[in-house]
Amino acid sequence: MKYKVLMVCLGNICRSPLAAGLLNFAAEAKDLAEHLEIDSAGTSSNHVGEKPDPRSLQTAINHGFQLTHEGRQIDLDDLDYFDEILVMDEDNLRDVLKIAKTPDQKAKVRLISEYDPRKEKPVNVPDPYYGDLEQFEEVYEQLWYCCMGFLKNAS
Ligand code: 4NP
Repeated sequence: MKYKVLMVCLGNICRSPLAAGLLNFAAEAKDLAEHLEIDSAGTSSNHVGEKPDPRSLQTAINHGFQLTHEGRQIDLDDLDYFDEILVMDEDNLRDVLKIAKTPDQKAKVRLISEYDPRKEKPVNVPDPYYGDLEQFEEVYEQLWYCCMGFLKNAS
């Protein structure tokens, strides 16, 4: 059975699709992809049906992979279906915990930076929407450490 991971941000067009694409790409490189099911969603409905932001698409291409996601909003079913919900920042954490009803659902939700081996305590992956490509690169780098930490933990 696959271990199911949902990446969550606000709009589901910048950080979480990049995080999901990166985790899948890194898992493929480590021969772990077949054990994982990876998706992403947003806490808001503002970008449902949209492709990822062009800057996330470009950042992925710069690092050797492509994003094919279509924006969607997280719902209560996701909190049952997925084994782990990795959110980008504390606003996402609060918003997802608001949807969660049971202790089991709440226990699945955590900041993705809990897996960053460089950090003693979790930090936000900052929203790059109003930034430029450089901010997206910084998000990528932070997510790379988080994904490496996640996969090390998983293997
Ligand atoms: P994301 O970035 O949460 O990483 O997808 C954002 C995308 C859109 C908006 C904010 C953040 N927005 O305000 O539309």
